[in-house]
Amino acid sequence: MRLAKYLANQGAASRRKSEVLISQGRVTVNGSTVSEQGFKIDPQKDRVEVDGKLLMPEAKVYILLNKPSGYLSSVSDPWGRPVVVDLIKDSNRRIYPVGRLDFDTEGLLLLSNDGEFANLIIHPRHQIDKKYEALVTGRVSKDTISKLKKGIVLEDGITAPAQARILGYEPEKTLVEIIIHEGKKRQIKRMLACVGHPVEKLKRTGIAFLTLEGLSVGQYRYLTSEEVVKLKAAALNY
Ligand code: URA
Repeated sequence: MRLAKYLANQGAASRRKSEVLISQGRVTVNGSTVSEQGFKIDPQKDRVEVDGKLLMPEAKVYILLNKPSGYLSSVSDPWGRPVVVDLIKDSNRRIYPVGRLDFDTEGLLLLSNDGEFANLIIHPRHQIDKKYEALVTGRVSKDTISKLKKGIVLEDGITAPAQARILGYEPEKTLVEIIIHEGKKRQIKRMLACVGHPVEKLKRTGIAFLTLEGLSVGQYRYLTSEEVVKLKAAALNY
């Protein structure tokens, strides 16, 4: 991370003022004065001091949120729509969503300030399972479930083999569970629309071994360190 950004993140000064502090030679990294603006540091390892005062290394946080419908998976919105970080009341860190759910999708969303972790979880190569419950229009047949499992041709390519099953029927609707590890844009909605069953309501109910248990809509909790280790292992053991 660029040194000035780190100083601003840690609350040492505004971004602009942090650049001034650097050019004035008031910032040291691991004991040496740094006056180069583009200097990059590792926030977890490097010792950064301003006027001889140590900035505490940034603690990593990992949050599991049950996102309500009507929130953007973003840190801010130019049009002032509600964003998921508004729901995290007790964190003053710069956290951001790990992956995304559509504005009208509900369910599990991770948030963190750990970029490496975010890359691990998001990258389809790491095959983290994401489980969804979709309420769709019409009665889904077994044949359609087979198609969803095999792969659906979307305009940006064929979807990877998935798991799919019918959870139940309502009059003129079906509740379907699908597990995928890709993250194509609006993938579940597009897959189901493609087989003639538009999604009316979508909820993410699982990310790897994480579930919605204990989290009502809008609630969140911090992951335990064991869960973080297990998630990283799940991503790396593909
Ligand atoms: N697939 C979708 O269509 N929407 C989401 O929010 C997540 C997966």
